[in-house]
Amino acid sequence: MTTLTARTVAHANIALAKYWGKHDSARNLTAVPSLSLTLDRLRTETDILFDAGLAQDEASIDDEPLYGRPLERVVALIDQLRAMAGVTLCARVTSTNSFPTASGLASSASGFAALVLAGSKALGLSLSLPELSALARGASASAARSLFGGFVALEAGAEAAVPVAPRDHWDVVMLVAVVTRATKGVASTEGMGHTARTSPYYRAWVDSAPEVFQEVRRAVQERNLEVLGEAMEHSALLMHACMLASRPSLFYLTPSTLVVLDAVRSLRNAGVSAYFTMDAGPHVKVLTLPVHAEQVAHTLEVLPGVVEVLSCRPGPAAHEASADTQP
Ligand code: PMV
Repeated sequence: MTTLTARTVAHANIALAKYWGKHDSARNLTAVPSLSLTLDRLRTETDILFDAGLAQDEASIDDEPLYGRPLERVVALIDQLRAMAGVTLCARVTSTNSFPTASGLASSASGFAALVLAGSKALGLSLSLPELSALARGASASAARSLFGGFVALEAGAEAAVPVAPRDHWDVVMLVAVVTRATKGVASTEGMGHTARTSPYYRAWVDSAPEVFQEVRRAVQERNLEVLGEAMEHSALLMHACMLASRPSLFYLTPSTLVVLDAVRSLRNAGVSAYFTMDAGPHVKVLTLPVHAEQVAHTLEVLPGVVEVLSCRPGPAAHEASADTQP
């Protein structure tokens, strides 16, 4: 009986310059450029098995089977890989996340990056990183960035992400203040469509994002946390202002989110370099330097509503799991 398998690992990334909105929805090309940091602590491990004994495609995340739209997105990506390899076998995908799934912690980024690599390896396809990144982008634009480690850019309308600087370019710490374990209310693709259709600020967001992206890229290249932090906060707040102005409003922030933002501002007033960003969920990610990391983490941990603080450093590119972690 034919069986083809692979096991891969990919790390989630958090955008320092955000993307929100599609340039081309059918091809899932982004309306604005984005720049992210891949994180070591936010990790997805994926096993894929193509087996003649399977009657249909199956997928699970953290032992929860996928149905409906989430399963369709997985199958759509596997279908592309099967077509490239000329294989018709059904697949079983088993993923585990080291962090809460679908709550604005970029699980789709690491998930689809791990999946495209696992599927292509199992099917014996030798695809380049730009080809893998472009395939992942079709499923989730942020996933295009998780094929690479360190600092990564995805230009507006681009097929694939490109590395900006490797993980050892700059030893920063990103502290993820988890404020709930619940999954998010509105998925990002749906939320972006709603914002583009109804927010009077959408045009302003698309027009202003490229300049903020350039500032973020320059600050990363120059390792300037003050300049990066200011531009990063501006990018996140521009994106949330645009979401808030949609109708009905798209409101991902909770009272706990605002408590964390306030604490980050107080830390800064006390001379600690720490800067926040938020995605399509209530968690706050705080960027700082190793020298301040312990103080910032302790400050965040005791805030009301914060359930956990995950300490992350720049992470590696997506890769095959090493032989010692094979079953
Ligand atoms: O690519 P998606 O559908 O996971 O959307 C990502 C959107 C944000 O996380 C809010 C911003 C970003 O650039 O990652």
